[in-house]
Amino acid sequence: MKLLIKNGRVIDPGCKQDEVMDLLVENGRIVKKETQIKECEKELNVIDAKGCFVMPGFIDLHVHLREPGLEHKETIATGARAAARGGFTTICAMPNTKPVIDNVDRLRFVLNKSEQVAAVHVCQVGAVTVSQMGEELADIEGMVKAGAVAISEDGKSVMNVRLYEEAMSLAQTLDIPVLAHCEDKNLVGAGVLNKGKKSEELRVDGISNLVEDIIVARDIMLAKETKVKLHLCHCSTKDSVLMVEEAKKKGILVTAEVCPHHFSLTEDDIVEGDTNYKMNPPLRTKEDVEALKLGLKNNIMDVIATDHAPHHKSEKALSMKDAPFGIVGLETAAALTITELVEKGYLTPMQMAEKLSFNPAKVIGLDKGTLEVGKTADITILNPDREWTVDTEEFASLGKNTPFAGKKLRGQIMATIVDGEVVYRHK
Ligand code: DOR
Ligand code: ZN
Ligand code: ZN
Repeated sequence: MKLLIKNGRVIDPGCKQDEVMDLLVENGRIVKKETQIKECEKELNVIDAKGCFVMPGFIDLHVHLREPGLEHKETIATGARAAARGGFTTICAMPNTKPVIDNVDRLRFVLNKSEQVAAVHVCQVGAVTVSQMGEELADIEGMVKAGAVAISEDGKSVMNVRLYEEAMSLAQTLDIPVLAHCEDKNLVGAGVLNKGKKSEELRVDGISNLVEDIIVARDIMLAKETKVKLHLCHCSTKDSVLMVEEAKKKGILVTAEVCPHHFSLTEDDIVEGDTNYKMNPPLRTKEDVEALKLGLKNNIMDVIATDHAPHHKSEKALSMKDAPFGIVGLETAAALTITELVEKGYLTPMQMAEKLSFNPAKVIGLDKGTLEVGKTADITILNPDREWTVDTEEFASLGKNTPFAGKKLRGQIMATIVDGEVVYRHK
């Protein structure tokens, strides 16, 4: 059946258009985009998007789906449902599952299963090294031929520079990006929270900015050398922003992402004993957060990605020291972007659509991220004025680990459309 989206504020980074219009969808594609589409409404599914943003479907470059092997934390099906609730129409799964996605068979397992059970498009990222052990390159070429959109060792860095250089050269030849988790393994030690006021107050080991900065610098130099497209995951420090800015000026092919928790919270927000404030990289200082927000505003930072990292309640019930790093993000990302960045004047709605859809599509080379006629109808409808309170019981994700539980946010996903089908509709 045809779908008509009426009266919405259509924000299309593909043609830099921001105006109230109608969209007509047929056979999974956008077939008309006009001020007022006249169609016989009886044969149509109609969504009235008055007062709402109509944006190209959000694309999350950084999600942990946990399947295979860690299904008590999340499955492909539950993670994809969470994505649909959050307005994401495409998600990229990181390879740190059990076993690690480091060969063609495992990659095919995720892609086939996703085809059967996922409400949204799922792309898979291949590991850089076998079992993410940092010793031997994974079958990168095989995985790319089988559909991997990128490679990443997320969860850690590849500490062996010679091996990483080889991987980057290969990625460059295969024309895929490297998604880099920047953390010096030796420098981080047993760090738990940002090194400073809070780690001292709570008497836990700290994670300094240097842990990230030193590897960001290294990886940018490797990208300069190998000419690979380097995408820096979850940047959290002010010097990361500076280095990205400099690298771009020099023509190095670097892009960078910021996570909603890193632009919404500082270390001062951490509640003693609440492990939902523990993630890697950690919540930083006010100064770092301001630099990240300005980096987004000034388009130095290209992408907003969640690092959705579900963990089981029993795991997060451990002490600050022992609980695993990570928080869920798919179902709060859009509202945090509205509340912290759009409402506060850091981002225009157009920039929001760029950072949540157009730019991530470009990073992995997907023909998505726009609402132009002829394109696949992956669409997100969001009411920027509606307030709601985060209730983890309502999450589709199995992970309830978020520091935003109980928080009032602005910006409600009203509908998520994948290939022309409504996969989520707010009641
Ligand atoms: O907080 C994090 N959680 N950071 C990571 O790098 C990995 C992730 C996870 O897999 O839980
Ligand atoms: Zn990471
Ligand atoms: Zn991650």
